[in-house]
Parts: sequence; structure tokens; C-alpha cells
Amino acid sequence: MKRKVFFTRRIPEIGIKMLQKKYEVEVFPGPGNVDRDTLVQKIQGCDAIVTLLSDKIDEELLQKAANLKIIANYAVGYNNIDIHAAMQHKIMVTNTPGVLTNATGEIAFALMITLTRRIIEADRFTRNGEFIGWDPLLFLGDELKGKTVGILGMGRIGQDMASKCKAFGMRVIYHSRKPVSGEIEQKLDAVYCSLDQLLSQSDVISVHTPLNDKTYHLLGRESFCKMKNGVYLVNTSRGEVIDEGVLVEHLKSGKVKGAGLDVYEYEPEITRELFSLSNVVLLPHIGSATIETRNKMSEMVARNVIAGLEGERPENLVPEMSDLF
Ligand code: DGY
Repeated sequence: MKRKVFFTRRIPEIGIKMLQKKYEVEVFPGPGNVDRDTLVQKIQGCDAIVTLLSDKIDEELLQKAANLKIIANYAVGYNNIDIHAAMQHKIMVTNTPGVLTNATGEIAFALMITLTRRIIEADRFTRNGEFIGWDPLLFLGDELKGKTVGILGMGRIGQDMASKCKAFGMRVIYHSRKPVSGEIEQKLDAVYCSLDQLLSQSDVISVHTPLNDKTYHLLGRESFCKMKNGVYLVNTSRGEVIDEGVLVEHLKSGKVKGAGLDVYEYEPEITRELFSLSNVVLLPHIGSATIETRNKMSEMVARNVIAGLEGERPENLVPEMSDLF
């Protein structure tokens, strides 16, 4: 009997086709995300599941997953999956690191320059027919060259953002769980510092840290107090790293001059007050949304599923599981 693979949402075809050659594949047709009842029903009968970052895979669900060998998350972040529970049930979990680094770095950089040069405000103004001629004082922004960017979380995507910032003549400081190698620091001209130093010295703070117990609300009231007046904030990681309510307060007071957000604390809900602020740029979690990257992610989940079902060690097994399989 063919083994069963369930996709919780349609993803670019390439990976689906790879799996259709070997297994019985079912794709949740939508519209929207798979509902909990369907997820419960499907996980009971499948050998592999391809999940999205919005699918909560918890202990209750995993208890029912009698045949499940592998959860292949279509994302680099996997905070949607209870890794501890998956380990207890001996179910492999994989993610998609590496292939989305540049795409996400580009979005972080795009958010930063869109904020500092007021691109969205200026576009609205022009469309509204308000442009009546060159004006020496029109939409004055902040130049990036010579400014300090603080990279919070110096993994692959943080490093990519750092290299883009370096190319634009910015001074790069960073804070991470641990410093990166001297070689990488040298290549990026990046200086390791404490969180407090990063908060007090950065003109732009770009968040790249994964979400976990230690990073939940890492940027909360106390951190905001330590930031420079007029700091810009960019988040392409996970919304819960920032206390969104406190961010709104500081955007209103001007302490934070602008925020570029691709992710939200209560995603897909967005704190309503953000909509009425002109100093924010809001994106619908599109960090990895390029055709090239999403195709590569699709291939990657398929390769991971094949390895997992054929008794091999998937290439992108999450690090927590490296000793288990
Ligand atoms: C991820 O893969 O974790 C990203 O958030 C997707 O854009």
C-alpha cells in the first residue's frame, strides 16, 4: 500500500509532484488554512505531513498521529510545532533553512529603506495628486550611510541583512545567543555587543531571532525605554518577539520613528491602531515570497519527506533532534 502524505495547503507544485511519484498525496484544497477538525482527521491517517508556520502542531494532535513519521514544515521557523512532544512520539521534524535567507534579507532591507526614505507616504502623496512641484523640504528622510544598524539574532538571515547594510555603508552591531565566528564578524564588519548596548546605540534595529521562551517579548517595555529616540524598527522574524501594544505607544510618542513589520504578535490579526499610523509599513508575512525561494522550499520539503519515509536522515532535521535520529 502506498504511503500517505498530507499537505495542509497548496504550495508550489514542484515538491507536490516529486512526492506524487512515490506516495498517495492529498492537498487541503482551501480556501484558507486547514481547520483543526480536518487536521485532526488527516493526521491520524498519514505517514508524512507538510505543514505551514500557521498550523499549530501540538501534543493533542501528535497523540493521534499513529503512523506519522515526519512533519516537514514549509518554513525555516518551526515555533508552530511542539518539538518536545514530537521527540516523545519519535516523529521527525524538518524545516527549510538556507534557501530563504536572501529573500528574507531583501524584505528586511526593503522595509528599512522604505521607512527611512518614506517611500509609502511619498507614493500616497503623489497618487493623491498632491505633488505640485519640487520642494526643498518635501519628505525629508534619514540616510542609511553612516548609521548604526543593530541586528538582533545573527543567524543566516541576520548575517544576510548585515552584509546588505554593510554594502550601504552602515555600521553593524549585533546581539545573538552567542557571537558568530571571528571570520564572519570580519567579513561583515560586525561587532558583537550586549542587548543593552544594541538598544542604546542602534539607529535601526532589525529583528532576526527565532521565537522561543527566551525571545518572547524580548522587545518589551523595558527594552523600548533603552532605545535611542527616533529609532527605526524592522521585524521579519516572528511577531511575538515584540510587544505590539508597547510598540504602538512608542510609535505614537515618536520615540520609535518608524516600524516595518512583516510579522505580527497575533498573526494574522494586526493591532488595529497600527493601521492609522503613517510611520509604519505593514506587509502580510512575505519574507520568503519570491518565486525562486518558494520553489526551492517546495523541493526541500519533498526531499525531507522522501528521506524520512525511506528510512534516511532528512537533510534538514531540526537541530534539537540531531541526536535522536
Ligand atoms: C519562515 O520560513 O519561517 C518565514 O517566516 C516564512 O516567510
